[in-house]
Amino acid sequence: MEHHHHHGEADSTAMIELLDLDAEVLHSYLLDVTTWVGQLATDAPTRVLDLGAGTGTGTLALARQFGGADVIAVDQSAEMLARVRARAEDGGLADRVRTVHADLDVAWPAVGLVDLVWAASALHELTDPVRVFKDVFAAVHPGGLVAVVEMGAPPRFLPDDIGLGRPGLEARCHDAVARAQADWEPHPDWGLRLEQAGFTMIAGQTFTIDLTPPHPISTGRYARAYLRRIRPVLEGRLAVEDLSTLDTLLTGDGPDSLLHRDDLVVRGTRTAWAARRP
Ligand SMILES: C[S@@+](CC[C@H](N)C(=O)[O-])C[C@H]1O[C@@H](n2cnc3c(N)ncnc32)[C@H](O)[C@@H]1O
Repeated sequence: MEHHHHHGEADSTAMIELLDLDAEVLHSYLLDVTTWVGQLATDAPTRVLDLGAGTGTGTLALARQFGGADVIAVDQSAEMLARVRARAEDGGLADRVRTVHADLDVAWPAVGLVDLVWAASALHELTDPVRVFKDVFAAVHPGGLVAVVEMGAPPRFLPDDIGLGRPGLEARCHDAVARAQADWEPHPDWGLRLEQAGFTMIAGQTFTIDLTPPHPISTGRYARAYLRRIRPVLEGRLAVEDLSTLDTLLTGDGPDSLLHRDDLVVRGTRTAWAARRP
């Protein structure tokens, strides 16, 4: 999900599906991370800003966690923000969720003061995070919080032996992606950048995701959406036999395909930083 900077139309549709499915498949993780933020807050936040909100997975989790809060979702994509509003409506949260269309690289939007700023898998996409952090600082009440989350280990879904091809396919896929991206910068230490912007770091946490999700169909769609996204990178980097096994997983309709398997899990990590405005 990270490190993809070329967003074509098909790409954006796939991204929307993947982000939407996060909410369903990673429900327990979202509960854990928003609970963690709630424990760090001195008072329950009443105005929350979600930067780079995407389809609103974080926005809605925050609105649920902080029942008295208004949550403002900011994104540069009008398409993403339309999804946020539709999902807020579906979830009965429309009265507390607002969207603001803005490119943070261009200018900080007029959103007023907030008690909590949340940014998940978004800051690594900014051109000038240092400038944005200064604006974040100015937007947070003294005593308020900023919570930043990035993906750690990429998600894994399959057992080592999937009963097709040579065992270890998924590990080879991830190795190939890592080789292809060897010169790409991993996300920075946001804790340091937050301190430089004037915040005081109060907590850092790695969340381990290791679950058998309650909805196997969603998990299959999620695994397929993720592996489809990395499929182009694997071309020419995986053995032909592996690519063919992968395509059976992705496009097949039999019991071996991702959509119909009953042996999927979700494993991965998220790294989180929390800082307070003194
Ligand atoms: C990988 S998605 C993460 C979405 C969401 N935070 C989540 O965790 O599901 C990154 C989002 O950041 C947005 N984004 C990237 N650069 C941005 C910018 N300069 N201004 C506003 N939004 C931006 C993208 O449009 C995209 O929706």
